[in-house]
Amino acid sequence: MMADLHRLVAEITAEMSAAAVRGRVADYIPELAKVSPDHFGMVVITADGREVAGGDADMDFSIQSISKLFSLVEALSRDADAVWARVGREPSGSAFNSIVQLEAEGGRPRNPFINAGAIAVTDLVAAGEDSRAGIGAILRLVRDLAGDDSIASDGAVAYSEAATGHRNAALAHFMKAHGTIDGPVDTTLSTYFHQCAIAMSCRQLARAGRFLMNGGIDPATGHCIVSPERARRIAALMLSCGHYDASGEFAFQVGLPAKSGVGGGILAIAPGRASIAVWSPGLSPQGNSLLGTAALERLAHGMGWSVFNPDC
Ligand code: DON
Repeated sequence: MMADLHRLVAEITAEMSAAAVRGRVADYIPELAKVSPDHFGMVVITADGREVAGGDADMDFSIQSISKLFSLVEALSRDADAVWARVGREPSGSAFNSIVQLEAEGGRPRNPFINAGAIAVTDLVAAGEDSRAGIGAILRLVRDLAGDDSIASDGAVAYSEAATGHRNAALAHFMKAHGTIDGPVDTTLSTYFHQCAIAMSCRQLARAGRFLMNGGIDPATGHCIVSPERARRIAALMLSCGHYDASGEFAFQVGLPAKSGVGGGILAIAPGRASIAVWSPGLSPQGNSLLGTAALERLAHGMGWSVFNPDC
């Protein structure tokens, strides 16, 4: 199995590195537009702890919406009832930054992975404190999960989004008007922009996802990060909502719970089998990594990894 995995990762890396059609790099956050679309990296960590890497596996990128997974874990561990009192658990079928659905539904976001839902979750983590407290807590969690204290938020990316993130400001103010968020909007948004600006490599990200392939227990430390039930439920949300209005298509093509970000990263989980991170900055029209998705499709099919496969 390891020989197959090594060969498959090498094949996928060669194919994706040479692909002509690579998608469009996000440019609505000016700092992200500077990244070359030519990158491709992937890391697969198997349940027995082996790491198989390809391409730009150790190059940092902006994790963007993948951070919503970590802020959700942090908020759930503080007060799960408070999370579900303010956000739903339904796929949105809408763009990640949609405003119209939030208004039509009285300021309650459909799920914690669209921008509105993630801002509402981050508001619980920021809890009106000094804007550094919330991002500090999220960074502590990510560093602990990845086993790497060097992970940090990229100030230039956070500033770039803060200077241009008017849609997110609109969503946050609208939710404040509805009582969906409690804290000062500026503190909540600053925390959100800094969590999205966390820079990680595929290797660090795959390590940070290990607890989700392993029923909530970090295999590196033996620490219980979340209960087995919560790990299953987070995976359910990743499958149904992790790729926004492309979540159904991703489930159809890949069949694994996963969370994407506009930096071009995707963290995917094959429960009991592997934690997988891929990165290629070019995006589909829905804002998900084009080659990252293609790579995960190849990997999942090649290894027989799917949550819909009876022996996965
Ligand atoms: O709030 C935003 O628009 C970005 N910081 C994150 C969006 C994102 O990553 C969507 N994912 N594919």
